[in-house]
Amino acid sequence: MAKAVTTREASTLVLTDPRFSKDIKHWGAHARGEIPPDWPLLFIVEGKGLLTTDGDTHRRLRLPVQRAISPRRVQALRPDIEAVVDRLLAELATVPAGEETDLHARFALPLPLEVICSLLGVPEDGPLREELRVLSAAAMNSEAGVEEVQNTVGRDFPATLMSLIEQKRADGDRDDLIMELVAAMDEGQLTEAEVMGNLVVTVIGGHETTANLICHAVRGLLTHPGTLADARARQDAGENPWPDVVEEALRWESPSRNLMFRYATEDVAVDDEVIREGEAVLVPLPAVQRCPRSFPDPDPELFAPGRPDVSRHIAFGVGPHRCPGASLARLEAEIALRRLFDAFPGLGLVPRPAARVPSLGMNGYQELPVLLN
Ligand code: HEM
Repeated sequence: MAKAVTTREASTLVLTDPRFSKDIKHWGAHARGEIPPDWPLLFIVEGKGLLTTDGDTHRRLRLPVQRAISPRRVQALRPDIEAVVDRLLAELATVPAGEETDLHARFALPLPLEVICSLLGVPEDGPLREELRVLSAAAMNSEAGVEEVQNTVGRDFPATLMSLIEQKRADGDRDDLIMELVAAMDEGQLTEAEVMGNLVVTVIGGHETTANLICHAVRGLLTHPGTLADARARQDAGENPWPDVVEEALRWESPSRNLMFRYATEDVAVDDEVIREGEAVLVPLPAVQRCPRSFPDPDPELFAPGRPDVSRHIAFGVGPHRCPGASLARLEAEIALRRLFDAFPGLGLVPRPAARVPSLGMNGYQELPVLLN
């Protein structure tokens, strides 16, 4: 039904070549009625939004989001990010010595959730931020049935966002991403469904992936003590080791699992294969980024910040759908890691296998149990 490409070269081709489309009308199996109606992802791949359109339609949908998270705006968020990190670390500091705590639930996830909600203009007080977290996790759960996915993504998520928009209109809010999208809707540039679609992608993309990135970096450092010692030594010498740590974490354990289907609009030669017109192609990023052909030296299984080929990773995608939130994610992760390891020099993993989240889209663990001291 679908093919997967696992080298960096093949993935880059599939993600950038216009002969691969995100428009479901090019999917042969779908056009022939071969996709079972109870396939849980059907609702998502059939939807029209940022991640399922090409060309001018895609550019029109993407522009307002891209503007709202421009590098200039992201840099201006630095003090806010630092404040959230410090608050979360102060809360962690109250955990009694020797008591296990879940760094995913108490640090890595709330940080990007708070940041994306502030950017969107979701009020800090009240239940909405937590509701969006729960809806996001449900939307990314690949064990959910088709009805559950439809209810979450098609009904509950938009309903929650719509009532928030009504409230924000009534309050006269203006200067945030939600209201910028609403303004674009009022000016006829986006439809209501498109605003909802953009918001759902931004809410989910804006926190779950960044949380995974922070957790993978922490896990990488704590399972490679020599690497952590090197990072500390560089910091003590007045250098900033954290960008290298973040880039390698993005390569070593891609925070996203599969980039969803691209459909071949004609036969295309990829490596030694031909992807036939109408076939769907997945890009499984964790496999691509540990491909020994693409990342030969050192061993791609190793977490090795500073490796010479790290800039070749494609954890943020490539081509027209490349992640517009990359600079925000990098900034959050760098601030989080530096301050976490400064605050808890004795941080250690609880040696217990942790379960991955059951998701085709997200590559993360359900928890990150640690001892802080
Ligand atoms: C470590 C953190 C992140 C990772 C690894 C990541 C990864 C990705 C990837 C791989 C794509 C491309 C999907 C594709 O080509 O099929 C993407 C798209 C997107 N991401 Fe991110 N992302 C991260 C953080 C963020 C943040 C912080 C935001 C928002 C503030 C965000 C918003 C989006 C949006 C809106 C898209 C859709 C872009 C489009 O289709 O044109 N992401 N992300």
